[in-house]
Amino acid sequence: MEKEIHPTLRIAEQVVEENGTDPDRLVKILQEIQKVSGCVSLEAQSFVADKLKLPVSRVFGIVSFYNFFKLEPPGRHEIHVCMGTACYVRGAKKLVEKIKRDYGITPGETTSDQRFSLEEVRCIGCCAIGPVITVDGKEYGGMSPEKLNSVLSQYK
Ligand code: FES
Repeated sequence: MEKEIHPTLRIAEQVVEENGTDPDRLVKILQEIQKVSGCVSLEAQSFVADKLKLPVSRVFGIVSFYNFFKLEPPGRHEIHVCMGTACYVRGAKKLVEKIKRDYGITPGETTSDQRFSLEEVRCIGCCAIGPVITVDGKEYGGMSPEKLNSVLSQYK
């Protein structure tokens, strides 16, 4: 039986095929893999290192340096909690703690059912209604730990 290839690895194969194996194109290749698959998995990083004849540590280093790169695919819904000053002083940290308690994820993580990913972000420009979260880009102001569940329950 043929071994199943992970979808991210398949995408990495395509991207390397289209971009060639010039080590100077490393960041561009990683960005393209991230764009298409939503992440650059460890398998994809090893594959790219091998093809570009670079040490794996160099590729890992680039991926961990830029927080744009993700190791896992994002969840179906992306929660951003604003940690800008105005939101922070109004209790944004409590929102992150509540999400951790209820969904078991901390910033940068995705729930095991792929439903939610969580990120902390800087001021998103609507401080007057803080603390603010966004879910898939939609803003929710005046948030409290109590209001979180009614907002998040809309996203399946
Ligand atoms: S600090 Fe949160 S929107 Fe400005």
